[in-house]
Amino acid sequence: MNSTDTRTTAADITAAVLARLDATPDPRLAEIMRSLVTHLHGFVSEVGLTEEEWRAGIQLLTATGDITDATRQEFILWSDALGVSMLVDALRHELPPEATESTVLGPFYAAGSPLREYGARLDERDAGPPAWVHGVVRSLDGTPLAGAELDVWQNGDDRLYAVQDPDAPEHHLRGRFRTRDDGSFAFLAVRPTAYPIPDDGPVGRMLAATARHPWRPAHIHVVVRAPGHRTLTTHLFDDASEYLDSDAVFAVKPSLLRTFVARSPDDPQRPAGVDGSWFSLESDFVLVPGDGGEPVDPGRTD
Ligand code: BEZ
Ligand code: FE
Repeated sequence: MNSTDTRTTAADITAAVLARLDATPDPRLAEIMRSLVTHLHGFVSEVGLTEEEWRAGIQLLTATGDITDATRQEFILWSDALGVSMLVDALRHELPPEATESTVLGPFYAAGSPLREYGARLDERDAGPPAWVHGVVRSLDGTPLAGAELDVWQNGDDRLYAVQDPDAPEHHLRGRFRTRDDGSFAFLAVRPTAYPIPDDGPVGRMLAATARHPWRPAHIHVVVRAPGHRTLTTHLFDDASEYLDSDAVFAVKPSLLRTFVARSPDDPQRPAGVDGSWFSLESDFVLVPGDGGEPVDPGRTD
């Protein structure tokens, strides 16, 4: 054997790492680790990653850890901005066509929103034009679901969610609502605004370097829970918003677009507490029978 036969190749390194996983006792972990190593090594080999690029990648991961704290989860933002959150959602939530589609939870969900009355307002200080949001929660076979819970949060005309703004009342633009005996619900929201995802960290640098913008189209977040049904995490998107075709986190699904209908101050259906012009938005939610469970958000510990 001459010395060139004993040279270690790139393929030898990948094979050695894969072989080291052979003793993994948990079969699912073994599958995930094997696939991770195969694809990671494949990626590095395919692009011919240089040492400088490798170092830049390590610095990026370090910066991601440095900026992450209890209120800022930059790792999830990477997942969102690279479409991985929506991919996991799509794989986990294959739904019958009649069911309302799910989408990302996002980082601005806060557990423990106050339970509010049918038709109550969400804003606790001025936040934009009022929007009466109403509809019915149903099971897949069309049966209205009484006592279902809608957990709602949104931003207002300053673009911020209450959890992003230390000066906002804690429960501003957040609330939980229960459906009535006929499955109906209503709440007085405000028309939401498009907003940028946090872009002052490594994810923002990636967006700028790849000529991408950080904006999300205007939407209202809703988690719908009902006994005996799978919990639905979704958005209602304003169909007149900018950025519907280029959501920074790939979360728009055409079936989730809704129209905010302009209504006049003298409209007989004007909700109590509304003076001037207002909007209405109608949206039913259709849930799939099954186990409930909380919305999945690996970034939250509460
Ligand atoms: C949100 O809709 O609140 C959101 C989702 C993903 C990343 C950032 C924000
Ligand atoms: Fe949002």
